[in-house]
Amino acid sequence: MKKINVGMIGYKFMGKAHSHAYRDLPMFFPNTLHPEMKVICGRNLNGVAEAAKQFGWEEYTTDWRSLLQRDDIDLIDINAPSDVHKEIAIAAAQAGKHVFCEKPLALTLKDSREMLQVVNAAGVKHMIGFNYRFAPAVMLAKKLIDEGRLGDIYHFRAFFLQDWLIDPNFPLAWRLQKDIAGSGSHGDLGAHLIDMAHYLIGGIDEVIGMNETFIKERPIPTNMTGLSATGNKNAEKGEVTVDDATLFMARFANGALGTFEATRFASGHRSTNSFEINGSKGSVIFDFERMNELQVYFTDDREDVQGFRRVLATDPAHAFAENWWPPGHTIGYEHTFIHEIVELMESFREDRLPVPNFNDGVKCQEVLEAVEQSIETRQWIKVSDV
Ligand SMILES: NC(=O)c1ccc[n+]([C@@H]2O[C@H](COP(=O)([O-])OP(=O)(O)OC[C@H]3O[C@@H](n4cnc5c(N)ncnc54)[C@H](O)[C@@H]3O)[C@@H](O)[C@H]2O)c1
Repeated sequence: MKKINVGMIGYKFMGKAHSHAYRDLPMFFPNTLHPEMKVICGRNLNGVAEAAKQFGWEEYTTDWRSLLQRDDIDLIDINAPSDVHKEIAIAAAQAGKHVFCEKPLALTLKDSREMLQVVNAAGVKHMIGFNYRFAPAVMLAKKLIDEGRLGDIYHFRAFFLQDWLIDPNFPLAWRLQKDIAGSGSHGDLGAHLIDMAHYLIGGIDEVIGMNETFIKERPIPTNMTGLSATGNKNAEKGEVTVDDATLFMARFANGALGTFEATRFASGHRSTNSFEINGSKGSVIFDFERMNELQVYFTDDREDVQGFRRVLATDPAHAFAENWWPPGHTIGYEHTFIHEIVELMESFREDRLPVPNFNDGVKCQEVLEAVEQSIETRQWIKVSDV
């Protein structure tokens, strides 16, 4: 069976998640195409050499441009911070490589649109890393909505709550710098919520938002990756140029109302990524910290047993479940990435675009930017106007 040769850029948090997915996929999904872990790339020679050995890549390099020259690389997988997504994705597509890029697609809507235009012109496949879509319990929510089991949708209520920045002496990591990250909790956590809303409910018409940067200066780090950093609390301080929290309300094209909250200041919440959907015939509740479960409620249940019930999405009836363990044997965070890459491999096998792709990345960026405009102008903003 043909293999897809991968060149991957970035080897820390997402680099590890993607590497693990490439490695595990053939064992559990023998009937799709399989990725070949050819070359891993990072800026630090010793670091990338160590990662290649630990994760199981054949070769390593510190020069991502060299990957694009190689005839034996089919796919470029971008796990570097958001400021370099555009340059690498465009160069990769122009070199005829398929592109898998982590979210958010780029720092701005303008850059995202340019990336979409280039991948389309090059005729390559493109995918964006909205991995939470691939939790089987989320896919069950989607199925129930598509089948009309929840009826007309009235509410989408979502929040992504973390607390890793509560300490005011936590150093100024790249996620706190606008020129590298684009935005703070908004583009990092809010982007996932927006994609989930698009996937489950559909397009968003208009938004109004607010945000805050609670800690305005932090010590310059001596060492950092995306979510961790070390430094001296007495070190010189630098300005935090992104939001610590962004909240917004939305009106969906189908008439549903939405609320979104993304924050890194919710003490006690390590990573509560949750949504609730209320419709005329029922409701669902999802919480990523209990990602195997979907709570469901149906108005046509017998009156004396009505109430939310917990469905464990591990039976063969659920997406991807047949490829894993016996019912009741749960899966975890890393499996969302494996499912994501199964979709990517299937898109090669079936010669179609994978979903979600750069179109979804641009749609997400439109909402991110509409919210930013609304915060700036203190007004409702139509997403179609950005
Ligand atoms: N899908 C998700 O849930 C999810 C989760 C975390 C991060 N992300 C996204 O993934 C991307 C990476 O985030 P992370 O948390 O893995 O970051 P990280 O800081 O842990 O790792 C970044 C990696 O990129 C490399 N890198 C940085 N600049 C580079 C350059 N110019 N050329 C080559 N390599 C370079 C670094 O050496 C490092 O290996 C970001 O866009 C982020 O928004 C997505």
